[in-house]
Amino acid sequence: MGNQVILIKHPLIQHKLTLMRKAETSTAKFRFLLKEISMLLAYEVTRDLQLKCELIQTPLAPMNAPVLASDKKLVIISIQRAGQGILDGMLELIPSARVGHIGLYRDPKTLIPVEYYFKVPHDINKRDVVIVDPMLATGNSAVAAVERLKSTNPQSIKFVCLLAAPEGIEHFTQIHPDVPIYTAAIDEKLDEHGYIIPGLGDAGDRLFGTK
Ligand code: URA
Repeated sequence: MGNQVILIKHPLIQHKLTLMRKAETSTAKFRFLLKEISMLLAYEVTRDLQLKCELIQTPLAPMNAPVLASDKKLVIISIQRAGQGILDGMLELIPSARVGHIGLYRDPKTLIPVEYYFKVPHDINKRDVVIVDPMLATGNSAVAAVERLKSTNPQSIKFVCLLAAPEGIEHFTQIHPDVPIYTAAIDEKLDEHGYIIPGLGDAGDRLFGTK
């Protein structure tokens, strides 16, 4: 795996993730926890943003103070539909980020992703991109999303999820070894339906209460 997989072990994230995994956790609580964790993930994924100094005036003195170097805001790309949960949390911390959406559904028989929607900022080629989806399971959707995003030539791409399966990481890193994966946990395996075990169930259903 090398340095490509960044496992975020922060105790607050781990504790909140355990609450999310519990079958009895309500939709409202699940949504709230995902938002909280996503703010913490946003903190980690933006750790290497470049800074520059700007001369400002405090009430007491002038100061050369650090501000973000790039005048082009980050783009957060949500893989629909469950990516919305991470997007909402990240926007709390980075409210001026730009947003893109990619709609992919998994064909339930083949597990192959089919694109049905794609909308990103027109000048994405000048921006850094963070793609978000809570579950890196087979990796098919993530691989397809990154492939599609690469065709728009952004400055950089990172992928952020909550949970990853070893199979998904293996698949993703083989095809996109240049894209770092940020995840809060690497679980045991996939089941025969492509669900992460032990996992947390269907992230979209739990987030939106559709089951
Ligand atoms: N998508 C989910 O929502 N959950 C899984 O376990 C795998 C893919």
